[in-house]
Amino acid sequence: MKILLSEEQIRERVLDLAEVIAKDSNTKKLHVIFVLKGAFIFCSDLVRSLSRHQIDITLDYIVAKSYVGTESSGDFKLLVDVDIEGKEVLIVEDIIDTGKTILRLKEKLIRKQPASLKVVCLLDKPARREVDVSGDYVGFEIEDEFVVGYGLDCDEKYRYLPFISKMEESD
Ligand code: IMP
Ligand code: MG
Repeated sequence: MKILLSEEQIRERVLDLAEVIAKDSNTKKLHVIFVLKGAFIFCSDLVRSLSRHQIDITLDYIVAKSYVGTESSGDFKLLVDVDIEGKEVLIVEDIIDTGKTILRLKEKLIRKQPASLKVVCLLDKPARREVDVSGDYVGFEIEDEFVVGYGLDCDEKYRYLPFISKMEESD
């Protein structure tokens, strides 16, 4: 495995994202919904960075599963029913790949009438997009390659790595 993004690079980018998100917030109250499992580490760093900007945060999570090995199965489950009516909502996702997960999630959540609905993703693979969707805030655009670490897995392995690595043939 080869390191693509170091701990330091990620830390700095998360701080920057928090600053911009905090500035853009109208109410300074965010209902943060993170997408399990992949976004758990990114979200925990992001909400602590947001707290430096006096943002009031409530937290919820949604479970989505779309990958088996390194192939997207297109299968998607919404396992938690969230109450977001009238709230300023921020979805926290690890990566936007084909875009199917985030599009379906947005479609489901918008029906619950939040005051606003934005998406922050740590990683974006625009070359892989199959549907028309994008993150409101993007940490890093990356090439079409499978990555692990900082929450992201390959068959449930490597989520704990503090950096992001590219998977290689030999892994
Ligand atoms: P999408 O629905 O194709 O956009 O896929 C999004 C989901 O697939 C993400 O939430 C990740 O869990 C997973 N995923 C996509 N690309 C990668 C990757 O390179 N490494 C690990 N997981 C990935
Ligand atoms: Mg995954």
